[in-house]
Amino acid sequence: MRKGSIRLIAAASVIALALTGCSSSKDDAANTDTKFEIFTWWASGGEAAGLQGMIDVYTAQNPNTEFINAAVAGGAGVNAKAVLASRLEANDAPDSFQAHAGMELDGYVRSGKLEDLTSLYASEGWDKVFPADLIKTLTVDGKIYSVPVNIHRANVIWWNPATATKAGITAAPATLDEFFADLEKFKKAGVTGLALAGKGDWAIAHLLDWMLLASMGPDKFEGLYNGSTSWTGPEVAAGIKNFQKALSYGNKGAGNLDWPDAGKLVTSGKAGFFIMGDWASAQWQSDGLKLGTDYTYAAAPGTVGIYQWLSDSFTLPVGAPHRNAALAWLKVCGSLEGQDAFNPKKGSIAVRTDTDLTKYDAYLQSAAADWAKDRLVGSTVHGVNGNNALMAAYSAAVGKYFSGGYKDNAGLAKDLAAAYEAGKA
Ligand code: GAL
Repeated sequence: MRKGSIRLIAAASVIALALTGCSSSKDDAANTDTKFEIFTWWASGGEAAGLQGMIDVYTAQNPNTEFINAAVAGGAGVNAKAVLASRLEANDAPDSFQAHAGMELDGYVRSGKLEDLTSLYASEGWDKVFPADLIKTLTVDGKIYSVPVNIHRANVIWWNPATATKAGITAAPATLDEFFADLEKFKKAGVTGLALAGKGDWAIAHLLDWMLLASMGPDKFEGLYNGSTSWTGPEVAAGIKNFQKALSYGNKGAGNLDWPDAGKLVTSGKAGFFIMGDWASAQWQSDGLKLGTDYTYAAAPGTVGIYQWLSDSFTLPVGAPHRNAALAWLKVCGSLEGQDAFNPKKGSIAVRTDTDLTKYDAYLQSAAADWAKDRLVGSTVHGVNGNNALMAAYSAAVGKYFSGGYKDNAGLAKDLAAAYEAGKA
């Protein structure tokens, strides 16, 4: 009897386990959760506007779920990631959090923080409308762990046409030589050549990431992350030399500026160029500025024909308190309606191949065309090439170099080599 009931209980738990493991029935559960907490660093400007677009879709579909937006301000997640790490450590996971496709996501998966979402891909048909190569960057050991909402481009140069005209610049600099020649022209016209944002280090690191790519080309650059290009070799040394030269054209007081502040230097005519991801365009539009008149763009010099990409995605953390509400959110993230509500305001293109491009401005339409034909190379500072440990050490190395007056090139190369190693630990 006793044995029998144990067997019965065991059989029942096997069935229960099978049901839990069978995520399609579990993931199809209706959302009866009364709350949903999402964690991002999209706290203001174009970032918050983009997120709001998707929140509106969610709340229309889930009117009985209170939406709790736990955004922590600070570009590229400099502050948010630290808060998130301590919450995850304390078993206080939000219901969904933002993570970049690539090695950043891989880090969360390998430390056991995320649920497998593979069955959602089949039930929502995402395996057919998301690019297969992108899905690979969300996959660890055959399982898919997040839902991508966008593709951003990191290697864009922005400028104000009126300031360029004043300096005698009539076309975008396509090469590094042309870039440096234009920086001289700005200098002669009494304009700071390059807008720099030093707060939190990441935006200066973003500049270096582009400069290394522009200086050594995509194959050598990718080699930095597969061990075939040395961080202490001649290619990185030449890239850092170019970086040092570019920094010398930067604004004073950059240490106090986050990227939206540095961007304003360009739109207000105080600085010439800004190398920044395409979220800058969304930021300016949320400030009421006009693409083509107040600011314009090109692929960053030395990287024409290369799309340095990154992708924001949303996850289902292990232990999410409102799991059904989170699944409903993830479905919005992957949907056509969600992506086309989010991306035109966020300044990114949709992941879905059936996106309605008429909803996107001229910049984003050109980005979509480039994404389809350019050589794709991942961003380092936004999670594709390295995990959080690598990114933190990379940004700290660049911050140290920049605040030290950008003199110690060999020291920077050594610190970058150590950052790469930190990502492997
Ligand atoms: C990136 C993120 C973008 C944007 C940017 C600046 O890491 O992927 O969506 O938020 O930081 O904050």
